[in-house]
Amino acid sequence: MSENIFIDKNMSDEEIYKCLIPQVEALLIEDEPIISNLANFTAALKDAFDKISWVGFYFLKNGTLYLGPFQGKPACSQIKHGSGVCGTSAAEMKVIIVDDVNKFPGHIACDPGSKSEIVLPVIWNNKLVGVLDLDSYDYNSFNEMDAEYLSKLISIIYGKLDFSNFSIE
Ligand code: SME
Repeated sequence: MSENIFIDKNMSDEEIYKCLIPQVEALLIEDEPIISNLANFTAALKDAFDKISWVGFYFLKNGTLYLGPFQGKPACSQIKHGSGVCGTSAAEMKVIIVDDVNKFPGHIACDPGSKSEIVLPVIWNNKLVGVLDLDSYDYNSFNEMDAEYLSKLISIIYGKLDFSNFSIE
C-alpha cells in the first residue's frame, strides 16, 4: 500500500475530508503500533490541509495530558487536565472549536502564531484516552463541518486500533 496522500488542494475542505477518509482507512494498519499509526494519521491531516499549522495528539496519564504523535512545530509536552483548550476538552469530554484563541480564557499558546483551534476528545469504551488538537494561523479556520469529519476520522482509528491496553508509556 502507498503511504502517499493524494489531495487536490483546489477542492473545498469538505471535499478534502471526503477524499481523505478512504486514504486514512488504507494508511492505518491494524497490527502495527498505535504510535506509528497515529504519527501517520497526523501527517496525513497536515499534508491534506494548508490551513492546519499544527496537528497532534495529547494522551492522558495520571491527570496530565502528554504530547503524542504530531506534525508541526515543537509543542508543550504537558498540559494539565482541565487547562487550556486541550485540558478543557479532556475534562468535559467534548469537542471545542475556538475561532479566536485570544478570546478563550486560559488558552495555552505553544505557538504564538496560532489564531484558531479545534480539539476533539478521543474516548475509548467511555474512557478518555486523550485529545486530538488542530491549530491554524488564521482565525475561524474550523467549524462544525470540521468537527463532523474529524470525528469520522477518529472513528476510523477506533475501528482499526485497540486502545484497551494503551498507555503513553
Ligand atoms: N493551545 C492548546 C495547547 C496545545 S498547542 O496548541 C499544540 C491549548 O490551549 O490547550
